[in-house]
Amino acid sequence: MPTLFDPVRLGAIAAPNRILMAPLTRARATRNHVPTAIMADYYRQRASAGLIISEGVGISQQGMGWPFAAGLWSDEQVEAWKPVTDAVHDAGGRIFAQLWHMGRMVHSSVTGEQPVAPSPIAPPGHAHSYDGNKPYETPRALRADEIPALIESYIVAARKALAAGFDGVQVHGANGYLIDEFLRDSANRRDDDYGGTPENRTRLLREVMSAVASEAGADRTALRLSLNGDTQGTDDSNPASLSPVIAGALEPLGLAFLELRELKPGGTRGASTVPRQSPIIRSLFSGPLVLNSDYDRVSAQADLDSGLADAISFGRPFLANPDLPRRLATGAPLNADDPATHYTRGPEGYLDYQPLREAA
Ligand SMILES: Cc1cc2nc3c(=O)[nH]c(=O)nc-3n(C[C@H](O)[C@H](O)[C@H](O)COP(=O)(O)O)c2cc1C
Repeated sequence: MPTLFDPVRLGAIAAPNRILMAPLTRARATRNHVPTAIMADYYRQRASAGLIISEGVGISQQGMGWPFAAGLWSDEQVEAWKPVTDAVHDAGGRIFAQLWHMGRMVHSSVTGEQPVAPSPIAPPGHAHSYDGNKPYETPRALRADEIPALIESYIVAARKALAAGFDGVQVHGANGYLIDEFLRDSANRRDDDYGGTPENRTRLLREVMSAVASEAGADRTALRLSLNGDTQGTDDSNPASLSPVIAGALEPLGLAFLELRELKPGGTRGASTVPRQSPIIRSLFSGPLVLNSDYDRVSAQADLDSGLADAISFGRPFLANPDLPRRLATGAPLNADDPATHYTRGPEGYLDYQPLREAA
């Protein structure tokens, strides 16, 4: 069985190790969602990842409700991403853009319009806004005749991601955002072709993935899903019936990889006793499978050893340890991340996590 430090092929990407950087929103862009110079420094520091999956990147203003997060719908944004992807490549790394539509998890004061979702159900909790947190609003249901334009916005974002120098794209289908809201029945009460049966709830995912794969190339197209347990108010009454349908829809596409963010009983950023879906997905999906959440070196290697995963993605460990692969290889201690600076603007808690010192 491979170790975390062995190379792995992820579609068109030859990753030198199996330690991927999970997507992490850090809110260091401008108010117009344009990347800034410190973002190039941040990603450059983390270029030793087998592959960096970028923070969630908005595909449209409608889908981007996170203050100071970056987008990929304007030419100005494309130009500002280029120094970021150049920095990663100059440091010997690889980076995919995570394509993000937040669905009902946005506030109209950020997007300028009522949130959209499969069904008019407000999620629990509060949305981020420029004036602090505000209760989530009731979204309007996307009309079926709006879906072609939505899919087109994913295609355009994928095109712009490649133009900006990304090595590929990962569609964000996890964590209670738009695609996940369609997939799971607590958020999807539609009675048209996009709701009801697992096949119908998977339709938008299928359409988005085949469109993006046609644009970017399947071997440069990945997907992130979170199928077990409640994430931000989105959940499913029967994940074991949904997962095989999703795996069956993805199998023919030849994607670069599928990443599953799975909740575990003692999870430190979301926990659940709903069984992990990776065993079901693994038995029905033959592409590379990446697993995430609450891994350390031992548990990560165990999921490679059992054959459940081909690679592991690390979120907070990579946030706080820019040289994470080296630290895992040498058994060096890990820095802890500081949640107080997760989403603050500026370099504090962003550029100042130190790599190990070179031995004298
Ligand atoms: C600050 C922060 C920002 C995050 N932003 C994103 C994001 O943009 N997209 C996404 O899919 N997940 C996001 N996540 C979830 C992480 O990718 C990951 O699933 C989570 O941190 C659990 O993995 P870990 O235990 O390795 O940190 C974020 C998590 C954190 C802590």
